[in-house]
Amino acid sequence: MHEARTISIEVNGVLREAAAEPRIHLADFLRHTLGLTGTHIGCEHGVCGACTVLLDGASVRSCLTLAVQAHGRTVTTIEGVAAPDGALHPLQAALAAHHGLQCGYCTPGVVMTLIELQRELDGQPIEEPAVRKALAGNLCRCTGYQGMVDAALSVLNAQQTTAMEGSAP
Ligand code: FES
Ligand code: FES
Repeated sequence: MHEARTISIEVNGVLREAAAEPRIHLADFLRHTLGLTGTHIGCEHGVCGACTVLLDGASVRSCLTLAVQAHGRTVTTIEGVAAPDGALHPLQAALAAHHGLQCGYCTPGVVMTLIELQRELDGQPIEEPAVRKALAGNLCRCTGYQGMVDAALSVLNAQQTTAMEGSAP
């Protein structure tokens, strides 16, 4: 067994410092060491996307990322996306409104993927096939995806709808 080392990671805006064995992956570190169980583990080999978190703003499979690789970096998990007053992130609210989840197991990973997509789009519109492509790495065995896609489109294209409404005669 390798010796644990102390790592510090800014998680959801808070600097967290804890011991981590070099072999422990980020998902286990978040869940078992930091108690952030919103990040789910499904396949544990990079296929299902349930463990998706943002590392310095980019999505990663936390089951394929060693905790020590996140040392000195920032991590955002599902626990960090709602507003400080508890109000859901618009993508979370849309998923609920459009029935974009059933058991919810895949949902944290889906939300993190869509948040990254939203940031990449930076207000540009998106079509349904592109949303489906973005979600291709998040496996869901419940929803059939349509509600999830509708939810994403409603938020990601909201600015365009607003702009078009504003320009109507
Ligand atoms: Fe990480 Fe499935 S648990 S991709
Ligand atoms: Fe159940 Fe996606 S809502 S796996």
